[in-house]
Amino acid sequence: MTGYHEPVMVSEVMSYLLESRREILVDCTAGDGGHTLEVLKRTKDTYVLALDVDDDAVSTVQGRLGREYAGRFQVRKGDYRELGQVLGKVGIPRVDGCLFDLGVSSRQVDSPERGFTYWGEAPLDMRMNRESPVTARDLLWTLSQDELARILWEYGEERFSREIAARIVRAREEGALDTAEDLVKVIKAAIPARARQGEIHPARRTFQALRIAVNDEISRLGKALWQAFLLTRPGGAIVVLSYHSLEDRIVKSVFREIEDRGLGKRLTKKPARPADAEVNANPRARSAKLRAVERAR
Ligand SMILES: C[S@@+](CC[C@H](N)C(=O)[O-])C[C@H]1O[C@@H](n2cnc3c(N)ncnc32)[C@H](O)[C@@H]1O
Repeated sequence: MTGYHEPVMVSEVMSYLLESRREILVDCTAGDGGHTLEVLKRTKDTYVLALDVDDDAVSTVQGRLGREYAGRFQVRKGDYRELGQVLGKVGIPRVDGCLFDLGVSSRQVDSPERGFTYWGEAPLDMRMNRESPVTARDLLWTLSQDELARILWEYGEERFSREIAARIVRAREEGALDTAEDLVKVIKAAIPARARQGEIHPARRTFQALRIAVNDEISRLGKALWQAFLLTRPGGAIVVLSYHSLEDRIVKSVFREIEDRGLGKRLTKKPARPADAEVNANPRARSAKLRAVERAR
């Protein structure tokens, strides 16, 4: 164990990313830099631009890789949904491949002050980019009961979305909804005890749904993938690791459209999945799905 986020499906990611053109690659979701490090280790002349919206990720990656790989690598704070602008700023007009490893990093989940998970007094924050204006608490306190229920259902597939939304509204009327613990209490009260048995944590789906809503993770993903694809030179690849069925559906449909329009070729018809051994060693890999597409040469 390194103490860093454990990168998922490393050999599969590398085989798709490095078999294609690879002079300049973008790691659109640097995290702790695990995949970036693998690219740098396995190549001699590939340049990697690593991006993350989270300042902590940027400083971690800079500290981890900045010295050893100076000259072949840079890390920047940036949003992959604005990849064109980011590339413009660093003077890189086109790239040879992009990696998206969606979702949260272990560092984010394991830092109580970020509010991604159910730690007692943690604030209900959940922003990956701490400059973005809206926190989970803001959503919990301002959305209507129907909007809350929709988010929990759509992004969390939470069966008890309506009950939880009703209790959230009640809790805020009572002024008791400020910490992770407050929200966990609300969720536990809304889900019947028998339905909670055997679950990893009854609050898991609600927290996931709020995180997706706070960071607007789904609605702009399709556009972001198209943008990355169009900034990638012929022969380059886009590789995506997703952890949520809604994300995978978007990746699948964008890649299929790319192929149908004759702009590229899917390298994975069905998503690749992690081997059992990887899931046993790193349970966070459990839901990973990998899809890759290559831009027509
Ligand atoms: C699963 S982690 C990546 C882990 C990384 N592959 C590693 O091996 O360490 C996902 C990262 O994407 C970042 N992220 C999420 N949305 C982003 C966005 N729109 N633009 C850039 N980075 C984003 C998160 O802050 C998080 O650090």
